[in-house]
Amino acid sequence: MYVGADYYPEHWPRERWEVDAKLMQEAEFNVVRLAEFAWIDMEPMEGQYEFGWLDDALAILDKHGVSAILCTPTATMPAWAPRKYPEVMAMQPDGERITWGVRKNNCFTSGTYRLLSERITRAMAEHFVDTPNLIGWQTDNEFGGPVCFCDTCRADFQDWLRAKYGTIDEVNRAWGTHFWSHKYTTWGEIEIPHPSGRAGRLAGPDYLSTHNPSLCLDFQRYHSHLNVRFQRDQVRILRALCPKHFVTHNLMGSYSDLNYYDLAEDLDHVSWDNYPVWGAPSIPYQSSAAADVMRGVKRKNFWIMEQTAGPGGWSAFGRNPRPGEIRKVAYQQLAHGADGQVWFRWRTCTAGREQYWHGLLGHDGKPLRRYQEAAQTAKEYHKLAPELEGTTVEAKVAIIYDYETIWALRIQPGFEGNSYHSAMMRYYSALVRAGVNVDMIKPTEDFSQYRLVIAPDFYLVPDEVAQKLSDYVKGGGVLLADCRLAVKDETNLCYDRTLPGLLSDTLGIAIEEYEAMDDDMEYRVVGKDVVAGDYTAVKYVDWTTPKGADVLATFDQWHLESFAAATRNRSGKGTAYYVGAVVSEPAFYDQLIADMLKTAGVSAHLAPPEGVEVSAREGGGKKLLFLVNHTEEKQQVAVPSGKQELLSGETTGDTITLDKYGVAVIKVQ
Ligand code: GLA
Ligand code: ZN
Repeated sequence: MYVGADYYPEHWPRERWEVDAKLMQEAEFNVVRLAEFAWIDMEPMEGQYEFGWLDDALAILDKHGVSAILCTPTATMPAWAPRKYPEVMAMQPDGERITWGVRKNNCFTSGTYRLLSERITRAMAEHFVDTPNLIGWQTDNEFGGPVCFCDTCRADFQDWLRAKYGTIDEVNRAWGTHFWSHKYTTWGEIEIPHPSGRAGRLAGPDYLSTHNPSLCLDFQRYHSHLNVRFQRDQVRILRALCPKHFVTHNLMGSYSDLNYYDLAEDLDHVSWDNYPVWGAPSIPYQSSAAADVMRGVKRKNFWIMEQTAGPGGWSAFGRNPRPGEIRKVAYQQLAHGADGQVWFRWRTCTAGREQYWHGLLGHDGKPLRRYQEAAQTAKEYHKLAPELEGTTVEAKVAIIYDYETIWALRIQPGFEGNSYHSAMMRYYSALVRAGVNVDMIKPTEDFSQYRLVIAPDFYLVPDEVAQKLSDYVKGGGVLLADCRLAVKDETNLCYDRTLPGLLSDTLGIAIEEYEAMDDDMEYRVVGKDVVAGDYTAVKYVDWTTPKGADVLATFDQWHLESFAAATRNRSGKGTAYYVGAVVSEPAFYDQLIADMLKTAGVSAHLAPPEGVEVSAREGGGKKLLFLVNHTEEKQQVAVPSGKQELLSGETTGDTITLDKYGVAVIKVQ
């Protein structure tokens, strides 16, 4: 079990290195991540390498039992690079290159930048291959942007399209360029769709492009490919020269400018950066969901490569983690499959843009409260390590997590506020409240491993996937789908079918009309039977006609009398649910999830009180139940009795009491 911090020896006098390493050892930290922003210190002039300082730092850490992960430093380039080769800087839509001096600002098609990246990667790999305490590599830092609008990028995008489509006629067909006279006659006419003059940003809520949605989707795919390709160049070198080391990258959870399934293909495991401490304390379901996404990208456990260690911010900063919160945040990730844990950062820096992004130690370098809490957590982790060995989350419920749908919805949300993540969280949060684990899966995954598959906002659905979903239900699976299902094909054209297209029979419904609603509109939803109660539909409704499905909820509106708000349909041996509205009350989703779990025969680990999360890790005949109290009150949880609680060593009774932000790990098998 590796636990430690992100460490920047280059920021501190050498005399301090020994003090830091000793403090790490006392905290039982056994790993640091180093050098992701230290390019200038390692290659002060092009082709001249200086690794001596890092050798010394590594040796001191080694003496104190601390291993290291080294990073390729390509997220921040030294000033000499753009001074000698201006083309390495990304170009903004207005034709100006980004001004050097921040980070993440290179052009990914620049041959020069790719060469500089390969050279420093090779030099590092050759130099450090035999460093005794080096265990692995992190590529770059938080791959993502920016979008570059230079001529090389444009030509490379055109090449990528040529390889994908073969002929310009095929592009015209796939993108529907008959609209607005947008037909291309030659590849050179294809432009990078630009987000209304804003530099760097690709999509998200600020995706303002009004270009052809099919062009936008392909550009998003291409942008992802550029990052994957850039990483692949580095990984190839690391694999060839350092076959004993692992290679990972620090992803960003639910960040979705890139297809993380593709990016992760070249890695041994993924890592991610988890910063959940913002604003008034609330239940951080998002962090669990992000952890499940991270476990899903390679279908294996992951690391945390950066995690909140103090107030964060680049100009103004946020709140301080409260007593117990640093530990609680760590356990939430451990419970979802984190096998390594690194806090960002070791010590708060006194210089640069991140002076206020606080570390475990403050500016003064004293080992105080936050350090002590991390040390306690590290010590507990080492004690738990033998029990954790070979365990992971084994879920019976899956949510389809698909970047193509996420991107297509960002390009055209359809209705105000719609995003894949907001739709997904309505179901995910209800599943956490119900006390079950979830896997996040690709649409190409084998659904038959799961009893229940949830497909929220599943908008871009190729015909094979629709077919797979209906076969899954026929074979006995339980499916839930909701608004905007199967509207689009792979090239982001609307299907010319009545919604939900190929899934109509499985769901037993037809949707001939639908509407978005402004904030001053809402409809009352009357739930019956398993979702009995009064609810509110906001934002969007499908005018769903049941064609064999049971009606679970209707609308209390004269013009919607014949339509259903929610349905359930038997198809073959399975059951398919549909929700054709955004419902504002979480209780609606809680009831629906309860019914779906019952239909699917999935039982909860236990019934957690509000604000307590339960997650299980199992494997090798072992099963550990993690309880995490996200509230600032003591919580009593009914648990299996006569089992060992591993942190206290005590045997459980019928209930266990969790302190505010308290955690427990019960060995049930
Ligand atoms: C990200 C980066 C770090 C640091 C932190 C805090 O996660 O990877 O380098 O910048 O944010 O801002
Ligand atoms: Zn470029």
